[in-house]
Amino acid sequence: MAWAIISDTPACMQRATLLSKQLNLPVLSASDKYPDYILAVMNDHLEVQLKNTKPIYVDFLDPQFLRRLHSVTVREPLLRAVGFKRNIPLHILDVTAGFGIDACIMAYAGAHIILLEREPIMGVLLQDGLARAQTQGELMSVAARMHCEVVDAKDYLTALLPEHYPDVIYLDPMFVHTKSALPNKQMQFLQNLSNDSDADQLLNLALERASKRVVIKRSINAPHLGGIKPDMCIKSKLLRFDVFL
Ligand SMILES: C[S@@+](CC[C@H](N)C(=O)[O-])C[C@H]1O[C@@H](n2cnc3c(N)ncnc32)[C@H](O)[C@@H]1O
Repeated sequence: MAWAIISDTPACMQRATLLSKQLNLPVLSASDKYPDYILAVMNDHLEVQLKNTKPIYVDFLDPQFLRRLHSVTVREPLLRAVGFKRNIPLHILDVTAGFGIDACIMAYAGAHIILLEREPIMGVLLQDGLARAQTQGELMSVAARMHCEVVDAKDYLTALLPEHYPDVIYLDPMFVHTKSALPNKQMQFLQNLSNDSDADQLLNLALERASKRVVIKRSINAPHLGGIKPDMCIKSKLLRFDVFL
């Protein structure tokens, strides 16, 4: 996959140059031939531009996503799976952060979340969306409970000291979900970007390091990750959360 960075206006050039160093990608000028995969530095956000599709970026303040958040109740399968209880804040490590949608739902309910994402492009999109939510709009206090690192979760977990073990480790490895919380174009983008074939290894590390439970999001009929049977399953129409206590 050939990627390059473009700067939408001259004012964005400084950020484009910094990202170019961080991601080791060239910054193109308007006269260059563009590759298929572009990370565009816009005035107020970062976005991925692909041929024949709308720009992809992380926007926790998107009205449709806010409506989804406003409909969240304690009966939400995700919250039941992580063991959410009112007034007892959970510390959750989301080791497959992606677009941060599940993490934001958990943070909205009151949890403190560390989000880990290993794909550098996805990681900078997520950090960008999070930074905006932390400084503007109605989710500032929610986003303040979310912190994102661009790292392979296997390395992060291997180096984690016991005093920092989280209550819950949450995994949502890429899988062909029959229907996903992510809109299709976002899911397809992630599927192209990321290969989660090492999810079994991630599960083994997670089982050793979660103080209370490990939760895995699966499609309803998917086999158990790594063939390991969970202690319980919380099901919705199309999804299943496998819970290890
Ligand atoms: C299905 S997506 C997660 C979607 C996410 N739950 C959401 O709500 O947006 C899986 C993501 O996990 C990331 N991932 C997979 N294995 C990882 C690892 N070992 N460390 C960090 N990120 C990982 C992938 O790059 C991908 O972005």
